Amino acid sequence: MAPPPLHRLLYVSRAHIDPCGEEPRRILDVATARNASMGVTGLLCFSGDHFAQILEGSTAALAALMSAIRTDARHHMLREWQPREAADGRRLFPAWAMGYTHDDRLDRAMTQMVLEDHDIPLDMVAEVLFAGLELYQAHPAA
Ligand SMILES: Cc1cc2nc3c(=O)[nH]c(=O)nc-3n(C[C@H](O)[C@H](O)[C@H](O)COP(=O)(O)O)c2cc1C
Repeated sequence: MAPPPLHRLLYVSRAHIDPCGEEPRRILDVATARNASMGVTGLLCFSGDHFAQILEGSTAALAALMSAIRTDARHHMLREWQPREAADGRRLFPAWAMGYTHDDRLDRAMTQMVLEDHDIPLDMVAEVLFAGLELYQAHPAA
């Protein structure tokens, strides 16, 4: 049977955690294990004040994850883009069940993404999030 079509989604939110505490590590540990078990890959960017996350997988997996993520008290003011089918069927982050970057230089872009009312192409956001960052964590996808 053919695998379900690959979809991607993006959200941005205001962080409600101590940037220097243990929470980013806890989030990542859970995300990496759970995403790998669901065939989900992606990238989580943390600026200190905001999160931006791109998730890619089946619509069922994305819906299940987002219902947990949306109600997580470690962030608020979550702005979410509708999942879109990846036209070429390829993952942007094939190697990461959840890649992670922490870079406060991204905060300006993230603040704009939270406030902006027009649609921003997800591929463009992915490029911005990639730009100039050192990815310090990479886990193989399931
Ligand atoms: C910014 C942020 C990103 C998160 N990303 C993921 C993720 O990619 N995958 C995941 O399983 N949980 C992620 N979580 C954790 C979920 O919100 C949730 O705590 C976890 O999936 C356990 O869900 P449950 O309490 O319904 O079992 C994230 C939480 C935050 C605050």
